[in-house]
Amino acid sequence: MEITGKTRLIGIMGHPITHTLSPLMQNAAFTAMGLDICYVPLEVSPENLKKAFDGLRAMRFMGANITIPHKVPSATLVDRLEGAAQITGAVNTVVNDSGELIGHNTDGEGFIRALDEVISIHFPDATALLLGAGGAARSIAVAMAEKGLKKLFIVNRTRGRALELKELLHNHFPSLTIEALTSEAAGEDTVISSKIVINATSVGLGGDLKMPQVAVDRLTKDHVVCDIVYTQSQGTQFLLAARGKGATTLGGLGMLLHQGAAAIHLWTGKEPPIGVMRGALEPERTDNTADS
Ligand code: ATR
Repeated sequence: MEITGKTRLIGIMGHPITHTLSPLMQNAAFTAMGLDICYVPLEVSPENLKKAFDGLRAMRFMGANITIPHKVPSATLVDRLEGAAQITGAVNTVVNDSGELIGHNTDGEGFIRALDEVISIHFPDATALLLGAGGAARSIAVAMAEKGLKKLFIVNRTRGRALELKELLHNHFPSLTIEALTSEAAGEDTVISSKIVINATSVGLGGDLKMPQVAVDRLTKDHVVCDIVYTQSQGTQFLLAARGKGATTLGGLGMLLHQGAAAIHLWTGKEPPIGVMRGALEPERTDNTADS
């Protein structure tokens, strides 16, 4: 990649940001597409998020990706929300449209596309157990609800946030049955009666060996277990445990790939080179049974 005076910038804002694989994947895509765009990691602490948004405007960034823990607060810092970001109130992609910052969310679409690569799920017959109620969890919940999901358990460390997500979903998808619980209150039945179990918390991030609080012993070969956290080894402890129980597993790299591809489409209006992007992630891609 050659950086010139004309190179346009796209950043990824997060805290921490050192674990991110997005620059590797997105820069490979821009190079393959022959675009003079450079994608850079931006470590932004929560108290500086507003200033960082002003910086994107001032320095005429072409756009940005937003990651943990900024997805929800970013929704109030853009000029306008579009699509899934409007429903979820969480932003993972910002497009700078001639000075107007537009907030989008491609996480849900990325999750569904990644899941489709591993298994076909008929959502109107399915119950899902969602661990977490942050920005990523919201996007996944909305994407599954849009597919007609029958029932959803939302299990979160903080009850208030789980209830907020329940309310949001109820307003947009009144026929979806929802139970919101704290991690302590969630019993084994939440696992037993679910087809899909998704860790959408940050537990396990950065190689942390902790597991989300859930009845792993109750997982079977009939479960599909997803972890939005991606790792550079065999997968998170949670996915390893799920695989040990015979479950079909999906690591975070598939979702990373597809949300990133959808973001490139938003920034450039062009089709992203999925194969090139997948290749850029290849050495880290061992936690995704889609490959095995
Ligand atoms: P993102 O927008 O990327 O989803 P987030 O909004 O900060 O990031 O959400 C992080 C999620 O991980 C939340 O569900 C959070 O639980 P709380 O709502 O209780 O904060 C969850 N989370 C983070 N650290 C956790 C931990 N150590 N144990 C359990 N849940 C955790």
